Amino acid sequence: MANLNKALAINVKGEFFVDSTCIDCDACRQIAPEVFADFEGYSYVYSQPENEKQRRKALQALISCPVGAIGMIGNRYLVSSVIDDFPILIEDDVFYCGFNSEKSFGANSYFVKNQDENWLIDSPRFVSHLVERFEAMGGISYIFLSHRDDVADAGKFALHFGAKVIIHRQDGYGVNYAQVIIEGDQPVEISSDFVVIPTPGHTSGHCVLLYKNKFLFTGDHIWWDRKNKCLYAGRDVCWYSWDKQIESTRKLLNFNFEWVLPGHGQRIKLPIDVMKREIENLIKRMGKV
Ligand code: SF4
Ligand SMILES: [Fe+2]
Repeated sequence: MANLNKALAINVKGEFFVDSTCIDCDACRQIAPEVFADFEGYSYVYSQPENEKQRRKALQALISCPVGAIGMIGNRYLVSSVIDDFPILIEDDVFYCGFNSEKSFGANSYFVKNQDENWLIDSPRFVSHLVERFEAMGGISYIFLSHRDDVADAGKFALHFGAKVIIHRQDGYGVNYAQVIIEGDQPVEISSDFVVIPTPGHTSGHCVLLYKNKFLFTGDHIWWDRKNKCLYAGRDVCWYSWDKQIESTRKLLNFNFEWVLPGHGQRIKLPIDVMKREIENLIKRMGKV
């Protein structure tokens, strides 16, 4: 729980604050960009909510913060009334789970309520609210793990729902409960709607997941840079090979998608042709870093 005594001095005074335990995972800035911004390795409140919609989003961020660094003065009862918002619909049958886990450095996770089988993409905290909601939505058949950093509570979800866990062999050590092991660098069609695309770079076994040629779940491979309004890949968080990461990004030009849904950073929806252009521009920029 956030501690007012540790509140960052930079917060604008008022209802919400961020304290010094923030790990800069970006989740709050994704959920409530009207309230939270980044400054020197932290998030802070740069503008207090001005209406109910903004207050609700700030509360969603408070619930999703992996380390409980977001606090609220008064009206704590409002928090429980917002929990029911999760998982939050993004588009069609794709949801953002919330409840980001510190074990995955606060990475975003997603849920797909597909007509044939439901998927969890990376893992939120194993909390009773999400478990009950996933049960009510038909359970989980597959859990896709983009890479070793974002495993979090996947094992608990797999055990509870009898889900098959998917991970690349190169990142699979320590995930001994995985049942679908991706090998090599060729795309693997798990079903007609879901294709796993190996994208080594950030880690050697990093993969992204393409759903219905529309949604690309990108883990820590690429994300949208909300300040510069372009796609981005982080060389400073590239643990394996930058050259491979460039190659993996080029591979994405072979696929069509409108959405980039990352583990960290801004999600983005663009028309397919614009997205391809953005990927091409990103590859050029990556070559110069
Ligand atoms: S969600 Fe929490 S840990 Fe993540 S950036 Fe915001 S305040 Fe920091
Ligand atoms: Fe990572």
